[in-house]
Amino acid sequence: MTLIPIIRTKSALGAQRNAWAADGASIALVPTMGALHEGHLTLVREARRYVGPQGRVIVSIFVNPAQFAPHEDFDHYPRDLAADAAKLETSGGADFIYAPDASEIYPDGFAARIHIDGPASGLESEARPHFFSGVATVVAKLFLQVKPGCAFFGEKDYQQLLVVKQLVRDLDLGIEIVGVPIVREADGLALSSRNAYLSAHDRQIAGTLNRVLQGTATMVRKGTPIERAEHEAASILKQSGFSRVDYVAIRDAETLEPVKNLDRPARILAASVVGRTRLIDNMPV
Ligand code: PAF
Repeated sequence: MTLIPIIRTKSALGAQRNAWAADGASIALVPTMGALHEGHLTLVREARRYVGPQGRVIVSIFVNPAQFAPHEDFDHYPRDLAADAAKLETSGGADFIYAPDASEIYPDGFAARIHIDGPASGLESEARPHFFSGVATVVAKLFLQVKPGCAFFGEKDYQQLLVVKQLVRDLDLGIEIVGVPIVREADGLALSSRNAYLSAHDRQIAGTLNRVLQGTATMVRKGTPIERAEHEAASILKQSGFSRVDYVAIRDAETLEPVKNLDRPARILAASVVGRTRLIDNMPV
């Protein structure tokens, strides 16, 4: 088995990337924070399929401090680069890992911060107001360092996917953003690195999130008014053992603006806490 190279600096990244680009290779980026699971490996396989055998796929692994609030789990976020590399070696498809030291992304004196309105407003931003500017800033840095032709993001973080598309559009970055459907456990729980925090008891409850969203989507399709369906879903989640429901919302699938009826493509999105784990999920309505 060939060992997947791990590149740590933007200068080494740039040299390799430019050599490939000079050969005419299409370059895909899969940005991650590591703790890779089947959802990430699906992104890598999609990226490989997209650029073809002559293309190049770079997986970045960087736990981005700018997207964590001081009370969040930055210090405890699972980090195991050797395990991630082993998964990428066996899954195949990636050419190298870019795992920059923090100083390569945020050198001393770094003071830039990208703020996005539109799809970044509301939902996740209510509970995590710092989050999307942290994501937009690091994703812009990664895009400018890697200079990919395309980049792959999971639909599990649906609002993040729309924020990244907005970033690329507004700043003329010229990168194609490809959203990849959610990978789920057998009971419907969306794969997430944070599922590792769930106790056995919490894990049982966690599976209901997806079932409640499915049931709510069906009710709305059959004519239940949207606001009533959202409220009912939140109270079922509470009864099922979630300690907090941040939102259950049916929104325009492109803009995330509230919708009154299903006269355009819509998405149901939810965030809810079980034990010490905050879960998010979404699906088309
Ligand atoms: O979705 C993630 O893992 C992160 O938010 C991302 C896009 C890698 C930015 O740090």
